[in-house]
Amino acid sequence: MPWIFSILFKFLSKLPRFLREKIMPDMLIPPISNNPSKVQLARLGHVYFEHPDLDKFSAFAKDFGFVEAQKSPGKIYFRGYGKDPYVYVASQSKDSKPRFRGPAFVVASQAEFEKATKLPGALVRSLDDAPGKGKMITFNRPDGTFFHIIFDQEERAIDLEEPSATHEQQGPFNKPFDKPRRGRFQRYHQGPALVHKLGHFGYVVPDFDRELAWYTDNFNFVPSDILYHWDFSNMDVLTFMHLDLGEEYSDHHIMFMQRAEPHVKKTFLHHTSYEVADFDTQLIGHEWLAKKGWKSVWGVGRHVLGSQIFDYWADPSGFKIEHYADGDLVNKDTPTQRDVVGPFSVWGPEVPKDFGDKGEIA
Ligand SMILES: [Fe+2]
Repeated sequence: MPWIFSILFKFLSKLPRFLREKIMPDMLIPPISNNPSKVQLARLGHVYFEHPDLDKFSAFAKDFGFVEAQKSPGKIYFRGYGKDPYVYVASQSKDSKPRFRGPAFVVASQAEFEKATKLPGALVRSLDDAPGKGKMITFNRPDGTFFHIIFDQEERAIDLEEPSATHEQQGPFNKPFDKPRRGRFQRYHQGPALVHKLGHFGYVVPDFDRELAWYTDNFNFVPSDILYHWDFSNMDVLTFMHLDLGEEYSDHHIMFMQRAEPHVKKTFLHHTSYEVADFDTQLIGHEWLAKKGWKSVWGVGRHVLGSQIFDYWADPSGFKIEHYADGDLVNKDTPTQRDVVGPFSVWGPEVPKDFGDKGEIA
């Protein structure tokens, strides 16, 4: 009966802080750290989606900056220009409903892959039909989501020069006190923002504490930031997590989890996010998508936590999808920060009121 919780929540939030926080039970994220008994993930490789109209998604994907890596009836593998043979697998939905079928993380070694096969519910299969081949473990979570682990995948050879569909000649940047670019010009043309890699994704989760515990007990996810509710300082509502790689720096967040409001019954994907080169790429890519008639959700702007320049779009099935550039990096010496939920952008358009919702999934 979620409506009862909604009413209770509204009632409690009207009480003085000392009283409401006494009544509301603690919902705090416990201290989380990595240790060698956990499965050590190295990076995020790709995501799986099912779309009602694969051709339409394919048209969007090309305007978004993905490159087709392999196509078979009902399935397209899209890649970026990084080492992953693909970053996005789009399949034809058999019942015309769009679905997110989970992220796939690359494990650090064969030993880590073996360790993951021993976790309860691990289903192992081969990826022989996919570019780069390899092996995959899938976990079906009780909340209807999926989590995959991959190993033995052949990596792409990286181009020596960073490819671009928009930049002819760029940099270095001239600043007021330091102007290193002399006699050379910045030259760009219209085109899509080419994607480098899959950067992160996030869920909104009703069974927040149990799901978060599963990910952080079994894998090297560590919170970079924890945010608590503005009315209840004893209720953590969101965490941005990175992969702990020890001394090595990794992206500020690779996965985030948000505690669902009481009316949300089922876990949903908030968005997936893909790295592009820089600010010019973001703006030229934004214009390209707009000119092609796709739907902008929020951007271009600059996030606070993670610092990325962001730009969110709706794909033809209604999933939110983000271009990002210039994100923060953290390592084992970066402490977890805890703060109240605050503004999500430093600059940019006002955040849409329904940004936290599932959105119009076709
Ligand atoms: Fe994001």
